[in-house]
Amino acid sequence: MKKIIKNGTIVTASDTFQADILIEEGKIALIGRNLQDTGAEIINAAGLYVFPGGIDPHTHLDMPFGGTVTKDDFESGTIAAAFGGTTTIIDFCLTSKGRPLQESIDEWHQKSKDKAAIDYSFHLMIGEINDKVLAELPKVIDSEGITSFKVFMAYKNVFQADDETLFKTLVAARDLGALVMVHAENGDVIDYLTKKALEEGHTEPIYHALTRPPELEGEATGRAAELTGLAGSQLYVVHVSCAEAAEKIAAARSRGIDVWGETCPQYLVLDQTSLEKPEFEGAKYVWSPPLREKWNQDTLWNALKSGQLQTIGSDQCSFDFKGQKDLGREDFTKIPNGGPTIEDRFSILFSEGAAKGRITLNQFVDITSTRAAKLFGLYPQKGTIAVGSDADIVLFDPEKERTISAGTHHLAVDYSAFEGLSVKGEPVTVLVRGEYVIKDRQFTGKAGSGQYLKRAKYFKHKTHNNVIPAY
Ligand code: URP
Ligand code: ZN
Ligand code: ZN
Repeated sequence: MKKIIKNGTIVTASDTFQADILIEEGKIALIGRNLQDTGAEIINAAGLYVFPGGIDPHTHLDMPFGGTVTKDDFESGTIAAAFGGTTTIIDFCLTSKGRPLQESIDEWHQKSKDKAAIDYSFHLMIGEINDKVLAELPKVIDSEGITSFKVFMAYKNVFQADDETLFKTLVAARDLGALVMVHAENGDVIDYLTKKALEEGHTEPIYHALTRPPELEGEATGRAAELTGLAGSQLYVVHVSCAEAAEKIAAARSRGIDVWGETCPQYLVLDQTSLEKPEFEGAKYVWSPPLREKWNQDTLWNALKSGQLQTIGSDQCSFDFKGQKDLGREDFTKIPNGGPTIEDRFSILFSEGAAKGRITLNQFVDITSTRAAKLFGLYPQKGTIAVGSDADIVLFDPEKERTISAGTHHLAVDYSAFEGLSVKGEPVTVLVRGEYVIKDRQFTGKAGSGQYLKRAKYFKHKTHNNVIPAY
């Protein structure tokens, strides 16, 4: 059925204006004043912002990690995402050495296909580069529409790849039109520091942060950026947590190297002191990279404001406090890394960012949606409100105040990392391709109704003479 959204304030990455939106067959058919269609359902958005649906470019759902599997899968994770105003996720498909890439991709399709309630796509982890992997990559891009590859520079003996692998991946991505993503921490030195801490009898969660100092994130970020410049390729640094890394990205960009940076809600509102909470509660706050000293938050906000960091990913990777985080009670290196963030990414950026004047409303849309759509080959199908785009729309009440809590969230995990945080603004109604997924704060969607998205190549490959657009 056709729908008309009336009386709302439309906000895109570039404009804020009053207009109605006609939705037909899942697409935005018309934007204008006083739209009429006798066959259409009228949605009254008076007093609400009308945002493009959030795009979360960094999730780990149903992922084996740290001797266990994330608590939230594609069903609970995407339903929670929808409540939080996110209509598309890009999840990380893990691979293993020696296993055909297609097998891993098929496994991720199995995990997601009957479960996802919003649209989704995959990034592909690259742990090794050899002739077999190189032979498979064109099909990964052309048939699967997977146009971003992830290389881990940390997690030694688990996911970590060496610099040769990173460099060869950058070169292959340059030639094929893919964007390389890195987890930038120096895994070798972290391995040394963690072993030393354990030898000295330090087992508590705070040692997770103390053995992964910001210098090691800055060093790895700078190394990845230099290798990108040398390869003439393109790089996206995930989960930037500290000034040392943000500065390396800014410096590389000022030299014309094609580097982009993402931060996450946890680094914007939480800090390292959370890892010192008693009764092992610090384990709830174990992420890699770790939470940092509080002053880094200002650096990250300023980097978002100035455009030196461009996106926010949730890095959703949840483990129950009881039964999963517990695995590391006697040894901090055994605490599964990650936390629940998918539902609050959008609201935290609005409340702490746009509502407090740290970023503009249009920057909020760019950072939570539009930029990710452009970088990851989904634009303009996703990431904006324009005629012809998918009707992925969030009706957002900017005045609604609430307190984040595990008691009210929609994730399966048993705690909230943001327990007690007051936020201003709430997604009220969320449409994916014109269909209600959340209607007046009730889930009205369906597990399995999310569509898999094949993505276009990195945009550098579509522009004349390989000139990188200013955006
Ligand atoms: O601690 C984190 N970030 N867990 C998820 C895996 C990763 O490194 O992104
Ligand atoms: Zn990571
Ligand atoms: Zn991650």
